[in-house]
Amino acid sequence: MERLEQWKQRLLEAHSSTPFAEKKIVFGEGAAAPVLMMIGEAPGGDEEKQGRPFVGKAGKNLSAFLEKVGLEREEIYISNVVKLRPTKESPKTGRAVNRPPSGEEIEFFLPFLLEEINIVSPKIIVTLGNVPLKAVTGDKSAVIGDFHGKLQPLPDGRILFALYHPAAVIYNRALQEVYDKDLTALREFLEGGLS
Ligand code: URA
Repeated sequence: MERLEQWKQRLLEAHSSTPFAEKKIVFGEGAAAPVLMMIGEAPGGDEEKQGRPFVGKAGKNLSAFLEKVGLEREEIYISNVVKLRPTKESPKTGRAVNRPPSGEEIEFFLPFLLEEINIVSPKIIVTLGNVPLKAVTGDKSAVIGDFHGKLQPLPDGRILFALYHPAAVIYNRALQEVYDKDLTALREFLEGGLS
């Protein structure tokens, strides 16, 4: 894990001279050399408060995901493309609310994510939604509708399995069936044995 610690220090140092330097960094966490690395978009409010990815509501979605594919949280590694909470001021309440990550934020964090993947070295990468899909494939025109539920070999020998973002599934009930089918496919692949 020493390489991961060094990587964290470099990220913190680079972050300290960005326009979003005052924002708290939420690092990834999980098993060393896991079978699966899950990559989300960016932390939300609960994650920022607790300093951990996929807690609160997103953590509940993650638990449901893990149960469906037959894995434990401790067995996988969980991270995000953007490692701070992107916010804007709500015109109604004046309070900070979530917004999608900006191009500038994604650009800053992308090389760190690619390095993190190399260090963690998972066999399978599961992306949630379009932001991590584009980041991992390096293809800005990649869209989740084309990639979801399929095993996609990556040039580095890893396997990408793209999923819709659980939040998109909540807002679009029609996607629930698709999402469930994708999880069944992932479970079958995992059970089929990885050598
Ligand atoms: N929480 C995270 O850490 N990442 C997401 O993509 C959504 C919620």
